[in-house]
Amino acid sequence: MCGIVGYLGNKEAAQILVEGLKKLEYRGYDSAGIAVYNGEEIQVVRKVGKLGELAQEIESKPPKGIVGIGHTRWATHGKPSTENAHPHCDCTGKFVVVHNGIIENYLSLKEKLIAEGHRFSSDTDTEVLAHLLEKFYDGNLVEAVKKVVAMIEGAYAFVAFTEHEPDRLVAVREDSPLIVGLGDGEYFVASDIPALLKHTNRVYILDDGEMADLTRDGVKLMTVTGEPIDKEVFTVDWDPEMAEKGGYEHFMLKEIHEQPEALRRFLVGRLNDESVHLEELNLNPEEIKSYSRIFIVACGTAYHSGLVGKYVIEKLVRIPVEVDIASEFRYRQPLIDESTLVIVVSQSGETADTLAALREAQGRGAKVVAITNVVGSTIAREADEVMYLRVGPEIAVASTKAYTAMVMAFYLFALYLGQIRGTLDTEEIQKAIAALKQIPEQVKWIIENTESEIQKLAEQFTKHENAFFIGRSVDYTVSMEGSLKLKEISYIHAEAYAAGELKHGTLALITNGVPVIALVTQESVYEKMLSNVQEVRAREAWVIAVALEGDEEIKKSAENVLYIPQTMELFTSVLAIIPLQLLAYYVARLRGCDVDQPRNLAKSVTVE
Ligand code: F6R
Repeated sequence: MCGIVGYLGNKEAAQILVEGLKKLEYRGYDSAGIAVYNGEEIQVVRKVGKLGELAQEIESKPPKGIVGIGHTRWATHGKPSTENAHPHCDCTGKFVVVHNGIIENYLSLKEKLIAEGHRFSSDTDTEVLAHLLEKFYDGNLVEAVKKVVAMIEGAYAFVAFTEHEPDRLVAVREDSPLIVGLGDGEYFVASDIPALLKHTNRVYILDDGEMADLTRDGVKLMTVTGEPIDKEVFTVDWDPEMAEKGGYEHFMLKEIHEQPEALRRFLVGRLNDESVHLEELNLNPEEIKSYSRIFIVACGTAYHSGLVGKYVIEKLVRIPVEVDIASEFRYRQPLIDESTLVIVVSQSGETADTLAALREAQGRGAKVVAITNVVGSTIAREADEVMYLRVGPEIAVASTKAYTAMVMAFYLFALYLGQIRGTLDTEEIQKAIAALKQIPEQVKWIIENTESEIQKLAEQFTKHENAFFIGRSVDYTVSMEGSLKLKEISYIHAEAYAAGELKHGTLALITNGVPVIALVTQESVYEKMLSNVQEVRAREAWVIAVALEGDEEIKKSAENVLYIPQTMELFTSVLAIIPLQLLAYYVARLRGCDVDQPRNLAKSVTVE
């Protein structure tokens, strides 16, 4: 996830671009840059670090010009550095691009371009776009962009700009957001509305497969094959604060809603119909076959994702997996050696306990793979191998989209291991892949179909001071995450229990009206779970069940049922958590809590 902006008008572009980027900093902030045409040539200014660094540089030496593009980066390919910062140019410096997304086939394109004599100056996937534009340009930027789009695969939004036609910007969208702003004799492109709201509230929202041709005569919209499009102008009526949150009241709600897009992005390039591709991890097959044990180490929500990981890896790969809380792991002299794989999980990549666990594991000779969201974070740098979540910055303290991506990371990792170690046959892998590909759309379905019902439930829920979450098998791990979400943002005391464990003590706390959220998505323990639900109903608990679509039986035992779509039994966690995130959010909101910044908590815990 990155932020892109473009300006074509009669004012100084540099200032407008930097101001626009400031509004997009939530989309990424490891480096930034702008490119402005000064009447003779395109001048590019790029700086590593937060946007303030670029703003300072530009303030001291402002590039002059009334057309340009800008970018704030959230690294996916290549570390945060000046060379990898956008805009990227071809060798001649006459074609520049800013890009958000991933060009999946960039390596093969880059190899061909190098063979043809192109010289690359960054590690990014984006740079191929500038070189391809130079290769295909024949006097018309729109035509060159169409040819480039026909060659690239992946999820992307980009804006192209060339010195040969300085009064033109061409913008394309495929699976990454992009809008065009219509001002008075001036036009804008941006990843999101806040970047241009100061200048106009009239926008075109591009759909996938569409492009915009911005010139001084106006904006022409067309498909990427050149068919003209007639689109309605959308008038934005949000205030600036609301706009920064994409029209949502809180970042947490925005991030919950971003999950379909984030999970789609997570999967890009990592699977095809036949197999899972995690070659990015550089683990050779012999090494993968040699592991005798896996440890997963993390804190909080990331730890909960690891618990899902244990279930999935043990089931699909038949290797013993231990999951440890990072602050415990390092002090208990864990039994690990060269045949142990250690996976550390951390959204921020900076959590002190997880980092200490990583060092402890490496000190004992284990290989460490990190699953993290932040490229260039300490954990990403120190781990032997890294798998990135690609969900973009998570701003709300309570983790949502990073958790679901972590869970997806474990699904993919388990399938990858199973593929190489031969514990899964081709048919099983294909079936699992087909199920995984549906997940982003299913997450969207859940949000659309449960949100208003959850809002109503939240009104009743908000009066309670205690709640219980129960589940069996992998549902138990989701209960833990659901319970943590509710506690941390609504301050309601909540506990998660393996449903079969209730009668060994906790059942004493179940009395008239006490909310019990029961996760009932596991077919293999369905009857047992139903009995546990009946046990709490018999004590007059208020049961809210999360169940699979089509389960009518559960309605007899639960007062409220929130349905999720059918998927493979092992993959329900990523779906079942969505209603629980929404419930926690709406309850906290009704209780007047500071949802995005709950008391006593911080987004990144860099102390032990
Ligand atoms: C809860 C939450 C925390 C983090 C934990 C680890 O919603 O976000 O429990 O999961 O502090 O943080 P990271 O993943 O950055 O290591």
